[in-house]
Amino acid sequence: MCESKTIWWDGGLWLIDQTRLPGELLPLCIKSVRQLIEAIKTLRVRGAPALGAAGAYGVALAAELCRASNPLELMTELENAADMIKGSRPTAINLSWGVDRAMRAAALQETVEEIRMAALREAEEIADEDIRINKALGKNGAKLLDDEDHVLTHCNAGRLACVGWGTALGVVRSAVAAGKHIHVYACETRPLHQGSRLTAWELDQDKIPVTLICDSMSGSLMRKGKIDKVMVGADRITRDAVFNKIGTYSHAVLARYHKVPFYVAAPLSTFDRLHQEEDIVVEERDAEEICTLAGVRLAPQGIEVYNPAFDATPLELVSGLITEKGVFRPPLMPMV
Ligand code: MRU
Repeated sequence: MCESKTIWWDGGLWLIDQTRLPGELLPLCIKSVRQLIEAIKTLRVRGAPALGAAGAYGVALAAELCRASNPLELMTELENAADMIKGSRPTAINLSWGVDRAMRAAALQETVEEIRMAALREAEEIADEDIRINKALGKNGAKLLDDEDHVLTHCNAGRLACVGWGTALGVVRSAVAAGKHIHVYACETRPLHQGSRLTAWELDQDKIPVTLICDSMSGSLMRKGKIDKVMVGADRITRDAVFNKIGTYSHAVLARYHKVPFYVAAPLSTFDRLHQEEDIVVEERDAEEICTLAGVRLAPQGIEVYNPAFDATPLELVSGLITEKGVFRPPLMPMV
């Protein structure tokens, strides 16, 4: 199974440009904070844990590029950069979590050079930790999957959405590594097709059997008894709900009706115990994402469009929250 990182530092910040997949696997060197923000907004880098690492590396990049001559000046520049990076996508909590961690590490230093080194060290630690954590949660979640299970997933919660291994797909990978035969139904994930472009590609690369379906097919498959479990990732888990890619809630409701377990796999960094569903800003994206496909117009010009990137699934529909510290069955939640 592929073990290389999707985000890394090699004399500068590098990431896999996810908008080029499945056509080409293209590393992209990020040369400025402005370019990083563009990459986040356009989903060249996406997925909650990947955004956490990208955010922290963004602070390291800002520190490296800043010509400040004293620590105060540098920290002021970094605070501006941090605010801009955090504001680029509001829903996934990991982005601000990663930025804040790098900023806290930087703020403890005394010299310009120490600030630069500490921000980069923290970003590297977040990146390495992400893979360790995903493998731990993968191992915890793998126990919930049985040999020959058919697992439905939505969006991409694989290694591309993280620095490596993956969360929901990390659980599948860990189960496969433990010798179980798992087959995945990947929902295409309209409108940006993270399921068909990324999840199907990743699983195919790892030779894990995968069948691509349209998002609207999950209910019918459950009714036919073809889905044993649903396994998704999360962008934020508040006291009462899981925020994940738009469409997740519909799968959760269908799973409950058909008595199919619905699992959410996420690191503790995705938990937000300070907020509840109504407090969270759900990013609304450009109408063109729905109205066009690869440059071809699919809807009348100027038609009114609603395009939220995420939805909220109440915790009562979740059978288990799979984390690096174990599996929590709501209303039980990990302490964070
Ligand atoms: O808009 P995206 O592609 O960033 O949305 C990503 C998701 O919804 C993922 O399911 C989530 O971040 C979990 S990633 C391990």
